[in-house]
Amino acid sequence: MKIRALIFDLDGVLVSTEHNHFIAWQKTAQTLGIEFTEVHNELLKGVSRIDSLKKILELGKKVISEDYFNQLLQEKNNFYLESIQNLSQDHLLKGVLNLLVKAKNEGLKLAVGSSSKNAKHILQLVGIMEYFDTIIDGNDLTFPKPHPEVFLKGAHLLDCQPDECIVFEDALSGIKAAKEGRFIAIGVGNPTLKNETQLYLDDLTQFRLEDYA
Ligand code: BG6
Ligand code: MG
Repeated sequence: MKIRALIFDLDGVLVSTEHNHFIAWQKTAQTLGIEFTEVHNELLKGVSRIDSLKKILELGKKVISEDYFNQLLQEKNNFYLESIQNLSQDHLLKGVLNLLVKAKNEGLKLAVGSSSKNAKHILQLVGIMEYFDTIIDGNDLTFPKPHPEVFLKGAHLLDCQPDECIVFEDALSGIKAAKEGRFIAIGVGNPTLKNETQLYLDDLTQFRLEDYA
């Protein structure tokens, strides 16, 4: 089947923001007296803000009030946003810009499918907003990744079938979502995904569009 669209996850695929999320969650965990390492952080990649805090609390076997839960979410996001305020095109991951330009020239449709409620703000900061025909983000979703809703909505808006779309993901939750939705799932920039997908790439410079278009 000929590919008609590319759907990109944002954090860790297009932009190098995953470490900022990690540092911000580590601060939250510290506040709660919970140990939180990069290994724990793998479980949070691609996961919504609310579910991420739930996972941290599970990790530390802690129960907190709803008010405190919401306060921690707000504090985490404030800290995260402060840490990315100087984000620019320099923070685009390797191969992103070339692939966007090439795919556009080939007439492919392009979408972002992200769990982040900050996705549009980030796309603006790094200056690639105009490449995308549609952007589905954390504000549009009822069911977060690993549910396929994010990618199914994207494909629908692009007027494509899932098997006509490639999904690029750096998170296990996202790969699960793409597979569940019957998309072509490609793992990028996260070696823990090597056994989870048919194709794994260290970065997008390794992607050969000509093999699919
Ligand atoms: C995903 C990230 O893209 O978005 C997660 O991989 C993050 O680490 C999630 O928690 C939600 O992001 P935000 O910006 O809405 O807090
Ligand atoms: Mg990601």
